[in-house]
Amino acid sequence: MAKLIIVSNRLPVKLQEKDGELSYKTSEGGLATGLGSIYKQGDNLWIGWPGLVVTAPEKQQQIASDLVGENMSPVFLTETEIKEFYEGFSNETLWPTFHYFSQYAIYDQQLWETYVEVNQKYCEAVVAQAGPEDTIWVHDYQLLLLPSMLRERLPDSTIGFFQHIPFPSYEVFRLLPWRKELLEGMLGADLIGFHTYDDMRHFLSSVNRIVGYGSMHGWVNTPNRSLLVDSFPMGIDYEKYAGTAATDEVMKRERIYKSNLNAEKIILSIDRLDYSKGIPQRLRAFELFLEKYPEFHDKVTLLMLVVPSRDAVEKYKELKEEVDELVGRINGKYSHISWNPIQYFYRSYPLETLSAFYRMADVALVTPMRDGMNLVCKEYVASKLDKKGVLILSEMAGASKELSDAVLINPNDINQMVESIYQALTMPEEEQVQHMANMQESLQRYNIHHWVSMFMDRLSYVKIKQLSLATT
Ligand code: F6P
Repeated sequence: MAKLIIVSNRLPVKLQEKDGELSYKTSEGGLATGLGSIYKQGDNLWIGWPGLVVTAPEKQQQIASDLVGENMSPVFLTETEIKEFYEGFSNETLWPTFHYFSQYAIYDQQLWETYVEVNQKYCEAVVAQAGPEDTIWVHDYQLLLLPSMLRERLPDSTIGFFQHIPFPSYEVFRLLPWRKELLEGMLGADLIGFHTYDDMRHFLSSVNRIVGYGSMHGWVNTPNRSLLVDSFPMGIDYEKYAGTAATDEVMKRERIYKSNLNAEKIILSIDRLDYSKGIPQRLRAFELFLEKYPEFHDKVTLLMLVVPSRDAVEKYKELKEEVDELVGRINGKYSHISWNPIQYFYRSYPLETLSAFYRMADVALVTPMRDGMNLVCKEYVASKLDKKGVLILSEMAGASKELSDAVLINPNDINQMVESIYQALTMPEEEQVQHMANMQESLQRYNIHHWVSMFMDRLSYVKIKQLSLATT
């Protein structure tokens, strides 16, 4: 029977080793939750890296057999591959370019070659498990070459590709020395999905200008096949966030945290440590806000959670120092014995704690310089059961296309950010409730399950359409 194979750089579990003992931490990320109900069914499978370098063959075998029952199959990456494929080409070449930070991008032939080799490694792992009738769904920028590699080996299989980060304008994308190879890699898929219409448009423009294939209503005609490109804005597991926020445990935590914080108004910010998230820009805006509106001293606290990420990459190390320094400077300038304007935590937190933070935040400040979608802002909205609270959201996040009831800002406009913080902190309650209700209605409907079924249905439609084109 035909099965579905999901392929992503990481598996939805993270392997940990302590004193020689292996343990598996399940991911609570949106993708893992959304696809959870699918990959665990029947013979379906998720292929990816378990998040730890394991070299001993017996240990690799043990991990592979531990994961079989979970419908997962591991791809083991060596230390060099992590350095050159993951930290290097994926996160020092593609990530900055795709997020419009091309001045940070490294163009290095060795990193490219390892990227090709690792994509080939994933291809072998899929081919070892896949039959000709299977559907393969490839995820994200680490595996841009995989669709074509798979097409060559399994010509009749159904292949979907979804990109979770932005696709930049042609003018930025064309800076990459391997631009043609990357596009050709993606074009092996039958359906290519992006979060927004703009990402899709940028991709089609690059395909047209770099590879020379035109498109009509999202259909790209290559010399031997047609494929579809479309946008599918990813949602969250709305019921999970709303349900967690309603539990006694979360409400208890909220009471404790609130009384410990002792602030009249709480502004919340949660991100991975990443330059695309605009953390220093947000801190400077908050500093200017404190300068301009001294009546909020002693009253407002910025609760800032920064989740460690990619800490072996130079730019991330530099950013950590910049953030530490800015927080120190602002707190040094304004704090006194019973008030800290910024409460800064550099670690990750469990869902219950995040949910309590979402509940207690009067304002969520989500101001990325560029973001494919951004799920934090959606989680905040889903957790506001009393509908009181204001979302300040960057226009540069994919989510801003759906959440027009947020206070939208340009993260480069510091004065606009300052005024939007003031506006959010003084917004009348009826207005907050109205905006929140509108956003909740849309997020409840366009949730993660809707996203998965939209993509899968469209993929089946493409296959049917291709067959009918081939017979006419
Ligand atoms: O946003 C893209 C993404 O790959 C997410 O899927 C993931 O949660 C995040 O970046 C962090 O990625 P990683 O820790 O694998 O580098």
